[in-house]
Amino acid sequence: MQGESKRLISRDVEEGRTTKSEPGRPQKEKSREWPSKLRMLLFCLILIGSAVILTVVVVSLDQRTGILKTRMSYFSGDPPATSAVFESVFPVKHALSDEELLWRASMVPRRLDMPFSGEKRIAFMFLAAGPLPLASIWEKFFEGYERFYSIYIHSHPNHVSEFSSSSVFYGRHVPSKPVIWGEVSIVDAERRLLANALLDFSNERFILLSESCVPLWNFTFFYDYIMRSNKSFIAAFDDPSPYGRGRYNPGMAPEITIDQFRKGGQWFEIKRELAVEVVADVKYYPKFRNFCVPHCYIDEHYIQTMLSITNGDKLAGRGLTYTDWSRGGSHPATFVYRDITDEFFERLRNDRSCEYNGKPGHVCWLVARKFSRDTVRPILDHSFYS
Ligand SMILES: *[C@@H]1O[C@H](CO)[C@@H](O)[C@H](O)[C@H]1NC(C)=O
Ligand SMILES: *[C@@H]1O[C@H](CO)[C@@H](O)[C@H](O)[C@H]1NC(C)=O
Repeated sequence: MQGESKRLISRDVEEGRTTKSEPGRPQKEKSREWPSKLRMLLFCLILIGSAVILTVVVVSLDQRTGILKTRMSYFSGDPPATSAVFESVFPVKHALSDEELLWRASMVPRRLDMPFSGEKRIAFMFLAAGPLPLASIWEKFFEGYERFYSIYIHSHPNHVSEFSSSSVFYGRHVPSKPVIWGEVSIVDAERRLLANALLDFSNERFILLSESCVPLWNFTFFYDYIMRSNKSFIAAFDDPSPYGRGRYNPGMAPEITIDQFRKGGQWFEIKRELAVEVVADVKYYPKFRNFCVPHCYIDEHYIQTMLSITNGDKLAGRGLTYTDWSRGGSHPATFVYRDITDEFFERLRNDRSCEYNGKPGHVCWLVARKFSRDTVRPILDHSFYS
């Protein structure tokens, strides 16, 4: 029966077509157009239906393979999904206690073949009292290199971030605690910064900066210098004076003997491996906390001594941050508006000779401090970073 009626319809349609041009039968023609519209509708329904089925299949497949996701981010020009897994687990804002944070950050993956591709990043860690007055210099420096750096800021917990959502500094404040310069709280802040930065596995190098630091080179040079170095940079020397060994306390023995006690500026640049050592340390830290008390200035001794003992062969024995002590006193010189000239920057860049990967060279400093707020304009005008 069904076959019969189908055949009837199709014959009807054929007839309709042949009679289409006949002008005397408009009424009949209209009714005969119906089946052809129906056919069209059916065809569209099938098309939509198969599109829906295809989408469902692809999406469910993607949940297992992630093909769609990587393709989409690839085409939209986003950086490859390097650390998404880790960042989504631990955003910069979290509610971990210091103990929880240091414990979590001290974990090391045993597999070196990372299941994601992407660039290795430098973690720029700003240890600031409050705002970052030189932020626009750094923004210029970072411009265009989003895949190659991460930013972390430690400020006073009451400080309200001054950055708008378009800034690279926006939302980069880590949970912070008050800091008293020269006391254990400053080392705690440094470890807090390191631990937060370690949670992101794309961070490979970790540089500590102050709010009065400026970069002396453009980003590409800066990045290559750090990434290609097979040493970590922290000044650590044996100072026999009252300001060095004089600050040693016999209570630190036997973990730390007086000839192991080191001194150096606090501004370091270290590799991931050493950063993990610092946050994982439960041997030297308590000794310093208990016995490197005023006027010991723990930030000039703890990481310097601890890394010299545990990883001395991996240290370059110098830092990367230029500080001008030539004006005397217990505070370094602050550079102001009138200091900023091309010659001035040239001098800082090539101030002395030093070794780099076993060879003598002239580039020893990547960063300089301290710069006052009024240097922003002249420094940007000189376009040192492009
Ligand atoms: C550091 O790098 C230099 C130059 O690439 C190389 O000669 C030297 O052996 C390296 N040192 C270590 C400890 O890897
Ligand atoms: C960055 O600085 C280095 C050294 O001064 C220079 O050779 C290089 O051309 C600069 N790169 C860019 C992209 O400006």
